[in-house]
Amino acid sequence: MPILMCPPTHFGVVYEINPWMHVASPVDLRQAAHQWEALRATFRDLGAEVVLADPVPGLPDMVFTANAGVTWDGRVVLSRFRHPERQGEEIHWRELFARRGMRVLDTEGIPFEGAGDALFVGDTLVCGHGFRTDRAAIPLVARALGVDVMELELVDPRYYHLDTCFCPLDAGTILFAPSAFSPASRERVRRLARRLIEVPDRIAAGFACNAIAVGDVVVSSEAVAGLSGQLREVGYRALGLPMGEFMKAGGGVRCLSLPVPATWGRPAPT
Ligand code: ARG
Repeated sequence: MPILMCPPTHFGVVYEINPWMHVASPVDLRQAAHQWEALRATFRDLGAEVVLADPVPGLPDMVFTANAGVTWDGRVVLSRFRHPERQGEEIHWRELFARRGMRVLDTEGIPFEGAGDALFVGDTLVCGHGFRTDRAAIPLVARALGVDVMELELVDPRYYHLDTCFCPLDAGTILFAPSAFSPASRERVRRLARRLIEVPDRIAAGFACNAIAVGDVVVSSEAVAGLSGQLREVGYRALGLPMGEFMKAGGGVRCLSLPVPATWGRPAPT
């Protein structure tokens, strides 16, 4: 599956919409470019195709392509951002997906933040709500994609998107940070997969769960080193990259990476 990334040309922390963002500690753009290029090179080295979106001036969080929408089988449900600061991205993501021949659906104005809050475990779409995505959007997303859905409630504002605390490596193996979920949702996750790696807060807070498996390699931030033994036991290798500049905006590897269908790049049917 190709991975959509957006160069950090216009990246920065110029507003505060999550607890990690502080305009007083600005981003080092050179360093950010360096970290982003290393991630792109890592995907390429692992044999994953990387496709790019054009960055837009004035939209610093566009680098987090996970929030463009969630894709499934030639369809995409577009994000409707909770915060006005990011709503300007929506038109650009809509155009990009349409140009790529995807069927573009939406949540009719109800907040939903794409793959940041919606991750597939096998054929089931697992959706987080509580901070960004509105619970009412979830059945609309499921209907639009024609998939089964499971809801999880997020309760810790540091883990405001599902992908900051939950990462399916394959249909039977999940990394998750229990402290990020309500007790009932925590139990749901525990029933969801055969193999669970429960990530303690000190490791999760380093964005270790904000990861993506490419084959048997778990690409994540440096904090994933703390999980390397457990990952090895379930057949994966941990690969941690410095993500410090993006963590200043509340993001890591997974936020910077949106899996898109293999048909990406075919011209839209006319
Ligand atoms: N600053 C961005 C925001 O608060 C970070 C988004 C991170 N993306 C993600 N998929 N977790 O919206």
